[in-house]
Amino acid sequence: MEFSVKSGSPEKQRSACIVVGVFEPRRLTAVAEQLDEISEGYISNLLRRGDLEGKAGQMLLLHHVPNVLSERVLLVGCGKERELDERQYKQIIAKTIQTLNETGSMEAVCFLTELHVKGRDTYWKVRQAVEATQDSLYTFLQLKTKKGEPRRPLRKIVFNVPTRRELTVGERAIEHGLAVSKGASLTKDVANMPPNICNPAYLWEQAQSLAANYDSITAEVVNEEQMAELGMNSYLAVGRGSDNESLMSIIHHNGGPEGQAPIVLVGKGLTFDSGGISIKPGEGMDEMKYDMGGAAGVLGTMQTVAELNLPVNVIGVLAGCENMPDGKAYRPGDILTTMSGQTVEVLNTDAEGRLVLCDALTYVERFEPELVIDVATLTGACIVALGSHATGLMSTHNPLAHELLNASEQSSDRAWRLPVWDEYQEQLDSPFADFTNLGGRAAGSITAACFLSRFTKKYNWAHMDIAGTAWRSGKNKGATGRPVPMLSQFLMNRSGIKQED
Ligand code: BES
Ligand code: MN
Ligand code: ZN
Repeated sequence: MEFSVKSGSPEKQRSACIVVGVFEPRRLTAVAEQLDEISEGYISNLLRRGDLEGKAGQMLLLHHVPNVLSERVLLVGCGKERELDERQYKQIIAKTIQTLNETGSMEAVCFLTELHVKGRDTYWKVRQAVEATQDSLYTFLQLKTKKGEPRRPLRKIVFNVPTRRELTVGERAIEHGLAVSKGASLTKDVANMPPNICNPAYLWEQAQSLAANYDSITAEVVNEEQMAELGMNSYLAVGRGSDNESLMSIIHHNGGPEGQAPIVLVGKGLTFDSGGISIKPGEGMDEMKYDMGGAAGVLGTMQTVAELNLPVNVIGVLAGCENMPDGKAYRPGDILTTMSGQTVEVLNTDAEGRLVLCDALTYVERFEPELVIDVATLTGACIVALGSHATGLMSTHNPLAHELLNASEQSSDRAWRLPVWDEYQEQLDSPFADFTNLGGRAAGSITAACFLSRFTKKYNWAHMDIAGTAWRSGKNKGATGRPVPMLSQFLMNRSGIKQED
């Protein structure tokens, strides 16, 4: 898709379609008003006759509106003017794009970026419009033999901004929105890929292809033999029941000065989580192909960082592994010695994510990181707590937690903090080892974070549980590309890049 910004008036546009808003009840936006005037009341007449109420998401496509140079006018219901919030704005854009894509307009000039959204500026509106567009046009058709794509898809969209002064921020917003969408789209592609194709070796191929495509990126891998030498017994135990070798891929973006302490992102990369010997029930088990959503999110974020060439050093770790039941599989009751030297009693082989992550978190100490963020589809309990709207954020370092929540707010990629208080730690007590991998029914997301916190003493650390946000279930099943927007925003903030210049 080609994006641009412009500052012009609607009646002067010569395009396949021009998109303007109508508020509820039947109230024209200023831009729609202009079109109404030159068309001598054509639009207000339609509204009076009841063709469009203006409810959020309502669409009315008009052809050959008198005196209008563009072939079509798409009227878009924007709801009550006072109630237009961020969520509605994004939904309206997505719906608009869908409509344009299905109704033959290969290009359009969109005036919805001029709508007033409380607390948000032109930069935000244009960037969100780009991201919402790319998100709503995303399809995963690689494995379908009949693609079923629209005959005349939307190819070019111009977002209008109110003044010429805002053209520069508009252009920056497009650049940033495109970079974020590109990363998110890679995340979706890799996460949607089925587990017979997307295994740890596939994640490693993805890391290598980033390195081949971007000068700032290099990649390396740690295989099972090397893990054994390093004492990563916990990570290895989880993969032992699988025929697919565990591989930890490490992606370096060298954008900052040499010697600058890197920001490290660690992604849970369970390319399939059957539960292992503590096997999961059959229903919905296919969705456990998404248990590598953390790794996919880290991979996508690395691509965004490389696209923007952010002047900061970032390392992304994809902790690839598959959890399967087998004669060689690890069992409940096993006691594992982690790379840190701490011992863990396995009470449930389905609490495997933390066993993989703990060794990856110890491994990254060697990079002497500025900070470490792990991203994981770690607990079903996180879905119980927050549903699918917010990522669960947990951290033992308040300033980092606040910085991440701020990035979440800026990028409209929701996250909500849960506590990691010491009181919860005792739920991990074990009679036989230093602690167990299971915290019991209460506060399952928090006790998982407590487990990880025992491996992150050497640096500032935050944990993002994306169990509810990485993919959608049901008839629209598919990866969401989250939390790429939030993580990218965090790194953009850290690298000091600005909205203008
Ligand atoms: N990958 C799952 C968590 C998960 C489940 C994410 C469903 C999204 C949807 C994780 O490995 C797991 O199985 N967790 C267990 C932990 C329990 C055994 C302590 C869970 O959530 O039930
Ligand atoms: Mn599991
Ligand atoms: Zn899992």
